[in-house]
Amino acid sequence: MRIPLIAGNWKMYKTPSEAVVLAEEVVKELANPDGIDVVICPPFTALAAVAQVLWGSRIGLGAQDLHWAKEGPYTGEVSAEMLRDLGCRYVIVGHSERRQYFGETDENVNKKSLAALGSGLTPIICVGETLSERETGRAYHVVEAQVKGALSGLAPGQVRALTLAYEPVWAIGTGRTATPEQAEEMHAHVRKTIAGLFGADVARGVRILYGGSVKPENAGELLQRSEIDGALVGGASLQADSFALIVKAAMS
Ligand code: PGA
Repeated sequence: MRIPLIAGNWKMYKTPSEAVVLAEEVVKELANPDGIDVVICPPFTALAAVAQVLWGSRIGLGAQDLHWAKEGPYTGEVSAEMLRDLGCRYVIVGHSERRQYFGETDENVNKKSLAALGSGLTPIICVGETLSERETGRAYHVVEAQVKGALSGLAPGQVRALTLAYEPVWAIGTGRTATPEQAEEMHAHVRKTIAGLFGADVARGVRILYGGSVKPENAGELLQRSEIDGALVGGASLQADSFALIVKAAMS
């Protein structure tokens, strides 16, 4: 009942002209993926150009962050409405790189998620523990607190509409992936947390992606797990062929 989602997070890679080339290659590789949602998230500066490339395809466009205010004196920031108007349907919220380097807090993640939902964007809300948190046995506690913080004050209907991504920080860009068992256990814990807050029915419908060094070689074993509803892919989304192989692994 949960449609898989594969999202490519291009991070701070690709100028607008480079992004157009990559987006064209992705469209060529995947054309109209069936029974799965596919999204690419280029940097802000490339969104308009990539939107043109994706027009008419079944590949969705997402941004990597947003501000929670509708508009205002917030130099350098971008609102949900601005992203919507460009053709975005998704937005990544609370990525660990934003938490780690740019002071993103659970409270901001919550405000950003509400703003995204209010404008009809699907937030892809990222949670995940650091290596020291895992090694000291606090991973479940940390992730649960992040989920509770992000979803605080949301209505059940809003929770149904969003996507979560479990991305252990120690697996991002390191080549080190969580084992399918580790990922599945944490996904089950996240779903249990959502069930406790919003009821089992809502929890059953929420997509939970895995992220952290997902590649064509490990995508199959991760994505076949019933608790893993897709992937948030960084490095391997910067090449159309490897991104397409991950999408195909999710379809099989
Ligand atoms: P990675 O990044 O696939 O390069 O590990 C994932 C992410 O940060 O979303």
